[in-house]
Amino acid sequence: MELTDQDIPIHKQLFGPDFIWGVSTAAFQIEGAHDADGKGDSVWDAFTAKKRKILNADHARIACDFYNRYEDDINLVKQLNIPNFRFSIAWARLLPNGTGYVNQAGIDYYNRVIDCCIKAGVEPWVTIYHWDMPLALEQKGGWTNREAVNWFSEFVTLCAQSFGDRVKHWMVMNEPVVFTGAGYFFGIHAPGRSGMKNFLPAIHHVVLSIAAGGKILRKLLPQAQIGTTFSCSQIEPLTSKPRDVAAAVRADALINRLFIEPILGLGYPVKELPVLKGLQKYFEPGDEDNMHFDFDFIGIQNYTREIVKYSFFTPYINARMVKAEDRNVELTAMRWEVYPPSIYHMIKKFDAYPQIKNIIITENGAAFPDVVKDNKVNDPKRIKYLQNYIAQVLKAKNEGCKVNGYFVWTLTDNFEWAEGYHPRFGLIYVDHATQQRIIKDSGLWYADFLSD
Ligand code: NOJ
Repeated sequence: MELTDQDIPIHKQLFGPDFIWGVSTAAFQIEGAHDADGKGDSVWDAFTAKKRKILNADHARIACDFYNRYEDDINLVKQLNIPNFRFSIAWARLLPNGTGYVNQAGIDYYNRVIDCCIKAGVEPWVTIYHWDMPLALEQKGGWTNREAVNWFSEFVTLCAQSFGDRVKHWMVMNEPVVFTGAGYFFGIHAPGRSGMKNFLPAIHHVVLSIAAGGKILRKLLPQAQIGTTFSCSQIEPLTSKPRDVAAAVRADALINRLFIEPILGLGYPVKELPVLKGLQKYFEPGDEDNMHFDFDFIGIQNYTREIVKYSFFTPYINARMVKAEDRNVELTAMRWEVYPPSIYHMIKKFDAYPQIKNIIITENGAAFPDVVKDNKVNDPKRIKYLQNYIAQVLKAKNEGCKVNGYFVWTLTDNFEWAEGYHPRFGLIYVDHATQQRIIKDSGLWYADFLSD
């Protein structure tokens, strides 16, 4: 059993004065106001309206009503001493049809949010795309259509031109392997497409779009810090048998390497995952170069680790994850294993790419079944989770890794995609019936930690 470094004391000072601390959110998960002021539908508006897609038939038409409550919520960010606030832009608020007609009310709204952050002394960190493609574009094939690179470029250009005078930190896309895997292979996220015929073209067009987005931002905003974010999990084989070890290598290629490597100029991990040879069909001349962009920072998002074993029955990768609930380990409400060393190993793994200049942990956090008592939420498990993961970030930093920031997922309990409102990830509790906010003890802990 690996040492988990439980109870390593952490103080903000140990990270140095330049370390970036923040909290992350995403538009669809918090904003609500699904049809306000000229917004178009996104794939998630359509997906949540379908039967049996979302736990408890939850939807995000209101969500946390951040659209109307952003001032109060940004003031809570300030009250918690959090200096950086990450949020995303809903593409269909700016471009209701995905391209063409610009909805000024959508631009005005994000201008208000950005100005409110600046007024509160909170630095805005903007994710351009956090999974909510306009429905009008899905109807033209969504990410499976190569035109998506042009649609996305138009959206990025509009964001840069509209907000680039004040936003200095940008992330082009959030967790590509999750939205393409869940949305285009398994069909359990929007837009609900499945199979290799959808997954492969989506992968390639998303890679091209991430690189194109980076280049557009660099050209229009030469002073900006430009990044993009990736999910990652430590992958370990169940046993040391060669076939489990080989299965873990394939799972690692799929989960941790599929998107970052082409973007770093290393190409797709085809050797480990021969099924990716099918991507060749979607290549056009010049793509090798167009897949690559030299980002100022890479955002990594880690929650858990995965244990993998060989499986004859799993097509394409012959590898299967052993569920955490079958492993007698501590679980979160997502049934994910609590395993702090995973974040350390992932920082080490990304740090080992010489092409990566700077790593920011753009998400880390945990859902637990919180309860309100006497208008308080006592959530010691979340406090411990955050402390132990942050301690592992420090360990990596002290070993010389170029990790320079950490953002908690998330500010308020919100809409957790196919899981609905059931998992509560917030530092702030939300009563979804009344929209009342209660700062959890973990929120008070983070505020105290940041005030040191
Ligand atoms: C990853 C995603 O970026 C975010 O949208 C999600 O809510 C969290 N992780 C938790 O699952």
